[in-house]
Amino acid sequence: MTLESTAAQPAPEVRFWPVDDLDRLTPDPFLDAVLRDEPVTRIRLPYGEGHAWLVTRYDDVRLVTSDPRFSRERVVGRPVTTMAPTPVASHTAGLQYIDPPRHTGLRRVVARAFTARSMERLRPMTERIAHQLLDAMEESGSPADLMEHLHTPLPIAVVCWFLGVDEGDWRAWAGHSEALLSQADAKERNRSARETTRARVVDLLRRRRDEPAEDLATVLAAAAASGEITDDEAVSLAMAVYVSGGHAVRNNSGSMMYALLTHPEQLDRLRRDPGLVPRAVEELYRFVPHRNGVGIPRIALEDVELGGHVIKEGDVVYNAYVAANRDPAAFPDPDALDFDREGPGHLAFGFGPHFCLASLMARMEADVMITTVLGRFPELRLAVPGDRVEFQREGLIRGPRSLPVAW
Ligand code: HEM
Repeated sequence: MTLESTAAQPAPEVRFWPVDDLDRLTPDPFLDAVLRDEPVTRIRLPYGEGHAWLVTRYDDVRLVTSDPRFSRERVVGRPVTTMAPTPVASHTAGLQYIDPPRHTGLRRVVARAFTARSMERLRPMTERIAHQLLDAMEESGSPADLMEHLHTPLPIAVVCWFLGVDEGDWRAWAGHSEALLSQADAKERNRSARETTRARVVDLLRRRRDEPAEDLATVLAAAAASGEITDDEAVSLAMAVYVSGGHAVRNNSGSMMYALLTHPEQLDRLRRDPGLVPRAVEELYRFVPHRNGVGIPRIALEDVELGGHVIKEGDVVYNAYVAANRDPAAFPDPDALDFDREGPGHLAFGFGPHFCLASLMARMEADVMITTVLGRFPELRLAVPGDRVEFQREGLIRGPRSLPVAW
């Protein structure tokens, strides 16, 4: 079918999306409205230039993210409308800004560290650290902040272990973690955190070249030494894993715990039937709005018809996984936290070639955190009313700032 033969509608009006901070787990009303009224639309974001398409329906998001007619690489160096003041693509080596086949090659290198053996060792290590952290929380006494005691340190420990950082250094690495993804008003802090972390990564890779171990740093150092990837790529891959690993799980698992603590019926059910946790974790991944706004866009390499519109070659296209996870066509009654939900898989980890590299790790972490907390604190409850729990402001990723709990 040629594009000329289809009855494409005129391009939709460009809507301005301010991407304001939202309370707690409130779904973005802009995305809900677009999904309902004009699921393939055009937007202008607060920064950058021009406008872009925004795709929100479950099926359309899966198409845009897996169809090679949409390129990530073409975003590099291109002024696009964005939600953050920093340039979208400031470096080219990043995994997220390249297309197959180079992308496939880099992913293959990183995948060598996600062996069945390393994943097998990861769970008991995560459980051990979770218990240590909760021992300390118990000692400090009720009430306590679960973000400080568990959701912040645990994911950093896991990703440090995976990368190959010595256990004694985890605390030092953790110090810069939060600042790495903070927004513009903390630009200086962000830059210095990035530089410090980069220097640590470079040092770790150098050490692993001479003293190999069983970790991601060794895999990356070996691939760089053999010329399979460049030194820059090794560093940027390690950074990508470190930054995404700690921050994403911290916030997402904190939001999951908040969702459970504010849904007492579902929480009771999980307490009575811990075997339900893996299923509950999947529904929580769908239910939790992981991020504000949208991530990195793609560029159409040719004209593509979608939802009755023609996306022209060269057009910028954003997709919203959080909206797709609330598409009633895929998830009836999307506001309900329903552990019995049947149907398609959620898109919290993305879709297509850029699908989250560490979904298994993130799933395991959420499972361990929920299982351990519920097992050890059968009376756990929020220490303040649910609507008083403070969430991040101006962050890219949404999640509680603190989670005061009592037991
Ligand atoms: C709750 C936890 C997490 C969520 C919800 C999440 C979600 C996502 C999403 C939506 C994407 C982007 C898909 C796209 O670009 O279209 C992504 C990519 C990525 N994630 Fe995760 N992630 C999580 C945890 C992690 C962890 C623990 C790590 C590392 C240890 C990690 C590493 C990455 C990397 C490196 C990419 C880029 C992959 C690529 O472009 O090929 N993520 N993740």
